[in-house]
Amino acid sequence: MKTYTKVLVAGLALASGVALSSAAPVAENWDNHCAKCHGADGAGQTKIGKKLKLKNYTDAAVQAAMTDEEILKATTEGVIIDGKEKMKPFKDELSAEEINDFVAYIRAFKS
Ligand code: HEC
Repeated sequence: MKTYTKVLVAGLALASGVALSSAAPVAENWDNHCAKCHGADGAGQTKIGKKLKLKNYTDAAVQAAMTDEEILKATTEGVIIDGKEKMKPFKDELSAEEINDFVAYIRAFKS
């Protein structure tokens, strides 16, 4: 019985190790792909963020006005305003799983 448990635990550790290596952690993806515009804290107060008048994700009212579907759609397909691409789509660079992780990550910026 004890041996069986050890084998099971080892198997699980191996499986999660494989899963981790295929998708980058969401914090790393945010820093690499999003923070230069939206800010490390999600407030959008970067040089580019101010210029683009980005929403402040630490603001509860902003969070309430945005659905999870909109977060997924914006990140997957990008944001086009007045016929101009303001944010590029990330579907070719990040997996669906990685994009999905942004929903909880962005929600957590709310102060
Ligand atoms: C070049 C700057 C830039 C980068 C990089 C960028 N965005 Fe954006 N993003 C924008 C702009 C511009 C908007 C539209 C204005 C707004 O909603 O604040 C926007 C809007 C959004 C929205 C709001 C959609 C809505 O319906 O309100 C989400 C969510 C979002 N971005 C997530 C991300 C994520 C996740 C990343 C990284 C994978 C990212 N953005 C990278 C510029 C950027």
